[in-house]
Amino acid sequence: MLLDTFGRQAVDLRVSLTDRCNLRCTYCMPEQGLQWLAKPELLTDEEIVRLVGLAVRDLGVREVRFTGGEPLLRPGLVAIVAACAELDPRPELSLTTNAVGLARTAEALRAAGLDRVNVSLDTLDPETFHTMTRRHRHQDVLAGLAAAEAAGLVPVKLNAVLMRGINDHEAPDLLAWCLERGYQLRFIEQMPLDAQHGWTRTDMVTAEEILERLAARFTLTPEPSAVRGAAPAERWLVDGGPGTVGVIASVTRPFCRACDRTRLTADGQVRNCLFATGETDLRTALRSGASDQELGALWRAAMWGKKAGAGIDDPEFHQPDRPMSAIGG
Ligand code: GTP
Ligand code: 5AD
Ligand code: SF4
Repeated sequence: MLLDTFGRQAVDLRVSLTDRCNLRCTYCMPEQGLQWLAKPELLTDEEIVRLVGLAVRDLGVREVRFTGGEPLLRPGLVAIVAACAELDPRPELSLTTNAVGLARTAEALRAAGLDRVNVSLDTLDPETFHTMTRRHRHQDVLAGLAAAEAAGLVPVKLNAVLMRGINDHEAPDLLAWCLERGYQLRFIEQMPLDAQHGWTRTDMVTAEEILERLAARFTLTPEPSAVRGAAPAERWLVDGGPGTVGVIASVTRPFCRACDRTRLTADGQVRNCLFATGETDLRTALRSGASDQELGALWRAAMWGKKAGAGIDDPEFHQPDRPMSAIGG
């Protein structure tokens, strides 16, 4: 098991498959992109499957989420999903994607055994999409969403980051749009994880502001807290339900106490927290011939060192060296 000194157990593994992305969201990375990892630094498909396999068999991991950067840019994605779906016990398999390339891959992913997808979409307006992502791919995302639904990758969850003066006025429209289509929308507070270190507390649209904006059009009632478990999203029933809306308030209402996550970066480092300042190098051990047992021991030790929380409010808070796109969200 992957335990820490605060009594938490990590059962949810987030695997970053690449640090690259085909969008350039302003809250994530600069126009010119980042210094991408070189191919030899990336775990191979086989190495990823081996590590996921040992996490599932020996370490108690029950859910595996593939992230990026943009995970659809990884050529071996379908094969990796297929191999992970063969594992015993079979983990739940999901993907967090910008959906730009999903229209042509949704069917194959479903056939390979993917259970569901979370799609990032911040706006319904193509021009605002271009302002926020610096790319004209809004139509591709809409097509990707439709393909995911048609392929049965459900429930489709939608992630939206609101930026002040850019798309924050769209919150009620986004919710109405998602309710009509049966997508589960979650608004995310912007976190200090951008490569440019441009995040400020005053620019961030808070959960409270988001809820205020939604309350102007909808009646929100909190879902019973027992349903939440370790989920980052707090959820509300909209107009009495069954539709819901979630808010991921990582900054103003952190949920670290219930955290059940462990992370593997595309270059084979275990991170015990999104905001961890250190990492544990599994790749070097794996490539020097370590056994599953030795790798498991390294992973357990990494998680044992997990801190109580992200500490965004701590005056000593330092943004991690790696940006979100290289950690995997
Ligand atoms: P579901 O199980 O489908 O609800 O997934 P999820 O909401 O955990 O995953 P997703 O990849 O869609 O992430 C949504 C948002 O939650 C992203 O902005 C993530 O960065 C954020 N998030 C995920 N895990 C953590 C975490 O451990 N801590 C914090 N602060 N935020 C997280
Ligand atoms: N703060 C909050 N969410 C972010 N995402 C990317 N960067 C940030 C940030 N700095 C979101 C993406 C995606 C999810 C994985 O994380 O929009 O939906
Ligand atoms: Fe790409 Fe996601 Fe970063 Fe946008 S937030 S640039 S989609 S990795």
